[in-house]
Amino acid sequence: MKVTVVGAGNVGATCADVLAYREVANEVVLLDIKEGVAEGKALDIFQKASIDLYDTRTYGSTNDYSKTANSDVVVITSGLPRKPGMTRDDLIATNAGIVKTVTENVVKYSPNAILIVVSNPLDVMTYCAHAASKLPRNRVIGMAGILDTARYRAFIAEELNVSPKDIQAMLLGGHGDTMVPLPRYTTIGGIPVTELIEAEKLELIVERTKRGGGELVKMMGTSAWYAPGSAAAQMVEAIVKDQKRVFPVCMQLMGEFGLHNVYQGVPVVLGKNGVERLLEVSLSEGELKLMHESAKAVTNVMEVLDKINAAV
Ligand SMILES: NC(=O)c1ccc[n+]([C@@H]2O[C@H](COP(=O)([O-])OP(=O)(O)OC[C@H]3O[C@@H](n4cnc5c(N)ncnc54)[C@H](O)[C@@H]3O)[C@@H](O)[C@H]2O)c1
Repeated sequence: MKVTVVGAGNVGATCADVLAYREVANEVVLLDIKEGVAEGKALDIFQKASIDLYDTRTYGSTNDYSKTANSDVVVITSGLPRKPGMTRDDLIATNAGIVKTVTENVVKYSPNAILIVVSNPLDVMTYCAHAASKLPRNRVIGMAGILDTARYRAFIAEELNVSPKDIQAMLLGGHGDTMVPLPRYTTIGGIPVTELIEAEKLELIVERTKRGGGELVKMMGTSAWYAPGSAAAQMVEAIVKDQKRVFPVCMQLMGEFGLHNVYQGVPVVLGKNGVERLLEVSLSEGELKLMHESAKAVTNVMEVLDKINAAV
């Protein structure tokens, strides 16, 4: 199995490191436009193999896509991260150009790959990559839901002083302030969260989750990478090992939840074909309303991207 990670910055390098450490693939290629950076980080990760005891071979490439040929999965992390005061949508003009070019190069050399988009604004960059790749929708997906639920699970674990491992959660909608965490589908060791955390406190946790990315940008001056890198690697693992894991991922909706041609986080079964099944869970009127609001926010940014594309 061969996996390529485009963008050897904070998120991309972390993802490659986790893929190697967990021996998800035999070969991991890291690619970046900055001369030598991907080669250096790939070599650094490989030099860790005898310490951390893994066999994965990591290679680097400065913008030479022939080295990524025949990848089974490609993770796209190239693009600018947020700075304090920025929204994810502020990144669109720069990152859309990067993601489009990268996708075209990736597909040229790996026409059978499954693409996982990480660059922000996530939902619209997934749209961008899907359009540029011309691949079916089950093969071009975005990573946000695993990260957002991981943050939500961390906050709940902190509140209850329990292991984050025992918290199961589902989250819908876009990767932004309009995301829709679903307390109704959250359990702690099988116990509904509503039994253990009072409504007001849970609402504060939901609100903190929505702003979870911004909280870290404020602290660090750039966006997070450990949890995002691991989340992307977890999606790769589910695909490469055909695990049929159930995760929230971003993909194009074609009528599901009453939404058409918009990119949203939804629960899916992830396996060797990418998205193998979309789980269209039943939503309350209020939850569906929130999801449609989230979809509207994404549609607005998709329209901005369409205008940019029409102008060039
Ligand atoms: N989906 C999520 O949940 C999530 C979470 C965290 C970060 N992100 C996003 O991921 C992206 C990367 O974040 P980061 O912190 O790793 O940023 P970073 O600046 O550390 O790394 C980005 C890398 O992309 C490279 N790059 C730029 N243009 C390229 C091109 N055309 N081809 C190849 N490489 C190119 C840069 O040289 C840089 O090394 C950002 O857009 C960020 O907003 C998404």
